[in-house]
Amino acid sequence: MLNKKMEDALNQQINREMYSAYLYMSMSNFAQSQGLKGIATWFMIQYHEEMVHAMKFLEYINDKGGTVTLGAIEKPESSFKSMLEMMEKTLAHEQFITKSINDLMDLAISEKDYATKVLLDWYVTEQVEEEKNAMDNVQMLKMVGDKPNTLYMVDREFGARTVTVPTDFSKGVSAAMGGA
Ligand code: FEO
Repeated sequence: MLNKKMEDALNQQINREMYSAYLYMSMSNFAQSQGLKGIATWFMIQYHEEMVHAMKFLEYINDKGGTVTLGAIEKPESSFKSMLEMMEKTLAHEQFITKSINDLMDLAISEKDYATKVLLDWYVTEQVEEEKNAMDNVQMLKMVGDKPNTLYMVDREFGARTVTVPTDFSKGVSAAMGGA
């Protein structure tokens, strides 16, 4: 059983992860509109990662006999001054998500909800990777300069990213992740 406070907080986090997916879909679309197909690919893969994050919370609430409540997803930004600004906003967003996961962890501990704490351990580790990726991207764009000719070069590098998470949740996210 999940207590109501924890259930509400986990449902709010599903919404935040879905917003993250929506934001990165929007960023992918913006990169596409600027002719930067590699960066567009990078963000669509990020979109898939966020869907996994949302689905893991959803599955967990159901597994615990709780109620999943989906809310409206806020409209994401759709236009950016530059690729660097877009990457800096990605980093700021990931830092916000890390804080949100940490707040959930605080709640799980104060409520003595150890099962939720174990679930959140996965997200704490995941957020280290999420922030690192965003920091690396910001650093790379600062190094090469946010100019069309250099962006063209790094765009290939972004485009080399491949999908490493499942995209089919028809049998549940845990089954898709091989029980992880
Ligand atoms: Fe779901 Fe990018 O954190």
